[in-house]
Amino acid sequence: MNRDKELYLMARQALKHAYAPFSNFTVGAALLTESGEVFTGVNVENSSLGATICAERTAFVKAVSEGQRRFSTIAVVSGEGAVLPCGICRQFMFEFGNDLRIITGEDEDHLKVYGIRDLLPEGFRLER
Ligand code: THU
Repeated sequence: MNRDKELYLMARQALKHAYAPFSNFTVGAALLTESGEVFTGVNVENSSLGATICAERTAFVKAVSEGQRRFSTIAVVSGEGAVLPCGICRQFMFEFGNDLRIITGEDEDHLKVYGIRDLLPEGFRLER
C-alpha cells in the first residue's frame, strides 16, 4: 500500500477518538515526520467552544512536544469524508515548513494532495 493511503487510513482510524459532542463533526489526522514517525490527532471540543482544538493541531502539538520539528505529510479526514484544514491550522502548520503536503479525500482511493503553499500563500512568519 502506498504511504499516502496508509497515512489516510491512520487518520480515519484515529477518528474514533475524536471528542466532538457539540458539533458532531469528528476529525482525525495523521502526521508523518521526515524521519518516518507518525503522530495522530483528533479534534477535542470544549464547553467553552473557543477552547476547541482541531485534529491537525493536536497531531502537531503531540509531535513537537516529542521533539519533532520536520514534517513531510499530514492526512486529514472527517467522519463525513474529505476535509481541508481551517485557517488557524494552516498558519500553525506553516510555522514548521513551506513544503508540507496535505492529503484528504472521500476515501483512500480518491485522495487529493495539496501543498501548504497552495492552501496558505504568504503565510505569516516572525523573523527569528
Ligand atoms: N475541525 C478540525 O478538527 N479540523 C478541520 O480541519 C476543520 C474543523 C474541527 C473543529 C471542531 O471541533 C469541528 O471540526 C467543527 O468545526
